[in-house]
Amino acid sequence: MPEEPVLTLVVATVGLLLVAAMAAIGLRRLNLPFTVGLVVIGMALGCLTGRVEALEPLGGITLSPELILFVFLPTLIFESAYNLDGRLLAKNMTPVLVLAVPGLLITTAIVGVLTFFLTPLSWGPALLFGALIAATDPVAVVALFKEVGAPKRLAILVEGESLLNDATAIVVFRILMGVVVAGTFGVATIGSGIADFVIVFAGGILVGGTIGYLMVASLRLADNDPLVEVTLSTVVAYAAFLLADHYLHVSGVMATLGAGLVISTYGSTRFTEETKSYLHRFWEYAAFVANSLIFLLVGMSVSLDLISRYLVPIGSIILVVLFARAVTVYGTAPAIARIPGSEPISWEYRTVLFWGGLKGAVGLALAMSLPAGFPGRDLIVTLTLGVVLFTLVAGGLSTGPLIRALGLARPSLVARVARAQAWLAAKTQALDRLENLASAGHYSAHILNQLRTEYDNQIDEARGELTHLHRECEASPNVMLHVLWAEALTVERSTYRDLFDRGVISEPVLRELELSVDLQRDNLERGNLPASIPSVPPIEVRIESTIVGMVGWLAPRSRFVERNRRRALAAKYEHQAAILAASERVVTQLEQLAGLSGADPAVEAQCRSAFEERTSTTMGRLDTIAEHFPEYVQAVQTQTVRRIVLDAEADAIESLAAVGGIPGAVAEAARSGVELAQRELARQPLSALESSPEELLRRVPMFQELGEADLRKVAAQLVPRTALAGESVIRQGERGTSLFLIARGVVAVLICRNGEPPVRVASLHAGEFFGEMALLTDEPRSATVTAATDCRLFELSKRDVEALCHSSTGVTEALERAATARAAPADMA
Ligand code: CMP
Repeated sequence: MPEEPVLTLVVATVGLLLVAAMAAIGLRRLNLPFTVGLVVIGMALGCLTGRVEALEPLGGITLSPELILFVFLPTLIFESAYNLDGRLLAKNMTPVLVLAVPGLLITTAIVGVLTFFLTPLSWGPALLFGALIAATDPVAVVALFKEVGAPKRLAILVEGESLLNDATAIVVFRILMGVVVAGTFGVATIGSGIADFVIVFAGGILVGGTIGYLMVASLRLADNDPLVEVTLSTVVAYAAFLLADHYLHVSGVMATLGAGLVISTYGSTRFTEETKSYLHRFWEYAAFVANSLIFLLVGMSVSLDLISRYLVPIGSIILVVLFARAVTVYGTAPAIARIPGSEPISWEYRTVLFWGGLKGAVGLALAMSLPAGFPGRDLIVTLTLGVVLFTLVAGGLSTGPLIRALGLARPSLVARVARAQAWLAAKTQALDRLENLASAGHYSAHILNQLRTEYDNQIDEARGELTHLHRECEASPNVMLHVLWAEALTVERSTYRDLFDRGVISEPVLRELELSVDLQRDNLERGNLPASIPSVPPIEVRIESTIVGMVGWLAPRSRFVERNRRRALAAKYEHQAAILAASERVVTQLEQLAGLSGADPAVEAQCRSAFEERTSTTMGRLDTIAEHFPEYVQAVQTQTVRRIVLDAEADAIESLAAVGGIPGAVAEAARSGVELAQRELARQPLSALESSPEELLRRVPMFQELGEADLRKVAAQLVPRTALAGESVIRQGERGTSLFLIARGVVAVLICRNGEPPVRVASLHAGEFFGEMALLTDEPRSATVTAATDCRLFELSKRDVEALCHSSTGVTEALERAATARAAPADMA
């Protein structure tokens, strides 16, 4: 028998892991939910521990609140957040929040009141019990729903609720605890409770989101080393939880959730495929271990003696908890349906939400964290254990069958068609490969023939199923359209990924485009055709452009603003170029897609014309950009072509090296040469390739008489400015401090008279200038000048203009002539 505590711990942990591994094998064969099996095995172990000597070390680990909260919970929450579909959660946020906040309060109140009447507990402890038992447990729920294969939206509702209501429960629990200990309760308690809740909830997300973002931002330092990145993700999961919960006293669950969501969102583009797969496997394993231990330990902490002694109160409390859950779920659902923008919850979903809201280790941790002398502590712990045990075993065993019985596990017709197509494509490809082998000559004809017949049969079967499904589709023609469009959207999405991988588009642009495909998909699911591309920039882009807008308003000439405007211009071009590439690819592949999905010609034509229209509008937009920014577009194209050629070089080196065509050292040298060229290309700023201000000045009529030296002097004084379409460069009535030259683009001059809406009085083009009148007359700006297209401007300060006028009468005359001519129509009006 090991004496050392560390040794005991190691022996016990290894023993439990062995049990978990065996249980996983056994339970899979018996087709039983893993969690339920573990709890039952844990109970058995718990009974045997005192009696069998070999099991004694197991007594060394007991389920303590710290163990649950600080060891297991961060892993489990992070894993589920990392794999959570953030967009789906955001889409279903209203029902999730309603269930997690007011829903939890309703359950707490019902359970609390009934517990007060049914048990010896007094008001405070009864309500406290209500709070800790009201929260559905993320650990239990997530584990179960993953196994059952529930529809995505249902899973996100249950998962989202269980993750968020935990924070609510913990806050309510703390408030009630304060009330019980202090023995007073009043309006002030409620007020400070609400404030507390908001701080704990939002504070947690903020802490976690920030830590997650810091990790993502510091990734560059890790040099794509997956081991370092996995380690950092572990640090983030725990640091977020500890910092939030232990030091800042905000919700640790929300913090880890926030960190996980941030990392999975940015990770999709910033992690390499290798890192993504490491992260996925690591966290899957970590969650397996944490889940196994937690449920075994929950089982082991059940004292059958106690439970049998309190069988009646436990039974009645289980009924109370079920009743409260039913009231909450069925009661809030109609209210949720009435909130604008939230999708109603069907009665089948409600039923699963009601029955599948398992209670688990978090409630238990809260119960056990009550101080020893707390009134009714033992009863609360026993009741909690009873309820947890019941929901885990009864709920765990029956939720899967319930989902199937309600017909929720059956994939939709669209999904079934897609699956049958994938099946057929896989079989056909396998058969092709078989024919290749046959032509290679040295395989036994007998074996090949046998396999050929097998595959022929399977292909016939798949075709038969597809025909059958197509017949079913004919009854609902929308399905056909849906299938074809969904495939077109898949092609569109994969084109964007390709472009990003090749460095043609940047990360924010990729994110925006992917989001637009997802929105089109949502539209499709609702039966609308996604004819136009919704443009909704992702949240970080929106935040950034708001900040740039604000800074731009305060300090229009700052370098920060200028850099961002240029970036926005580049993004616009990339965006349109990517849409063009994707639409063109869809159009070329459409015939093949239609053949595969069995879409009829009318459906194909409808889809084709939508994508062709998209192609031509996008081309028009690109032409406009090219017209106004020829050098820029040329530079972008040169860079893209260079990049593609370098990629081809790199591929050639890799394939030669792979077949041993060149010696390792030579391949290494060639590889680093190409990599260097790629890095240099990526570093080259596009602006360096634009036309110089001198070139522009030569094209401006009023500067034509200036000598080379003067021209160079003026050019040195010009400050480049980018104005995006719609942005105001000058506002009527402002004080004038500079003159603007238009290098690229078109601006509109708008005048507002006597409070009437502004009237467009002129359009000015490349080579023209504006802003001279206020400088010459010292009066306020006579008009508002707005960029009609994206513009490249050069700004010259008042002082420099004056110096210039001093040295060149030609410039003075040109400015005065323009000012007089422009003022004339305004005076006549
Ligand atoms: P300023 O008054 O400094 O600021 C607004 C500018 O708009 C003005 O200088 C001119 O450069 C320009 N502007 C005003 N009225 C007209 C007009 N009718 N046609 C062309 N440009 C104009």
